[in-house]
Amino acid sequence: MKIVLYAPNDAAGWTAALRHALPQAEIEPWSPERAAAADYAIVWRPSPDVVPSLRRAKAIFNLGAGVDAIPDVTAAEGRVPLIRLDDAGMAEQMVEYVCHAALRCYREFDAYAEQQRRALWQPRPREPKRGFAIGILGAGVLGSAVADALVGLRFTVRTWSRMRKALPGIASFAGMPELAAFLAGTRLLVCLLPLTRETRNLLDRARLSLLPRGACVVNVARGPVVVDADLLSLLDDGHLAGAILDVFRDEPLPPEHPFWHHPRVVVTPHVSAVTLIQESAEQIADKIRRLEAGLAVAGVVDPVLGY
Ligand SMILES: NC(=O)c1ccc[n+]([C@@H]2O[C@H](COP(=O)([O-])OP(=O)(O)OC[C@H]3O[C@@H](n4cnc5c(N)ncnc54)[C@H](OP(=O)(O)O)[C@@H]3O)[C@@H](O)[C@H]2O)c1
Repeated sequence: MKIVLYAPNDAAGWTAALRHALPQAEIEPWSPERAAAADYAIVWRPSPDVVPSLRRAKAIFNLGAGVDAIPDVTAAEGRVPLIRLDDAGMAEQMVEYVCHAALRCYREFDAYAEQQRRALWQPRPREPKRGFAIGILGAGVLGSAVADALVGLRFTVRTWSRMRKALPGIASFAGMPELAAFLAGTRLLVCLLPLTRETRNLLDRARLSLLPRGACVVNVARGPVVVDADLLSLLDDGHLAGAILDVFRDEPLPPEHPFWHHPRVVVTPHVSAVTLIQESAEQIADKIRRLEAGLAVAGVVDPVLGY
């Protein structure tokens, strides 16, 4: 079995892990000639010529949960299934990041840090937890894991997805007609949506204004879901209390971007849930074995929906 790998980051590490997980396969770096003969391809942020070069591949594996970096998801439509990572160690990391963000906002750690800078000993009145509803945009692999963890911390949790969910103890909102009601009851908004035609610029001024005054926003999905200028103006006029942002339209976030120095914005460099080589190689190997045995696999991207 021939597999081509297009992984600009740590190609040696990926090759070693994949060779270990699939000892019977020939795993080589992508080239147009090798691509033409490949049974499978494993890619991260492929250049535009990579997908069309895979003329006889049985599947393309994306080294991440989001497939928005595939130049044209529909290029493989009807021909080569595109398969994303599902969880592969990312859910646990996302849970850590979002639980930290939720507790940081709910327990007002930033306000206490500011008081400490002024040597001010002043307990703040605690808001009842019931009133601090956390709304998660996206209830897929990562959104549902985060929702479960927040319920475990006894937060009131609601999710928004395309299709309605039945997650125990979690209110499920579905589709555009229910987005306004979802946002109106959300004190901490967590974005875990894929970046698609429908979700690009979803969180603009009109939608973010539906959050109650004093709400916070956490974006751990993709930068272009949020309209930066609209988020900044709602932070500046006091409608929103804060934002914790891990993903951005341009990455690395340019040094001149106002997010860097905004007093109510926390910036992290796209680290909320990184792809883990070992876990991902094992998941891909397992899926290849299933495909070879004619079995179904999870994580096949719908080329029309784009996730
Ligand atoms: N920052 C990081 O380090 C990092 C790491 C990993 C992933 N991510 C991002 O997180 C995203 C989510 O990952 P995942 O594995 O949880 O994906 P997933 O399992 O595909 O879940 C996506 C969720 O979004 C919902 N959704 C998609 N389009 C929608 C729309 N137009 N309206 C309403 N809901 C919509 C889906 O609804 P249905 O359930 O109804 O289909 C689903 O619940 C990825 O696409 C990626 O961009 C970021």
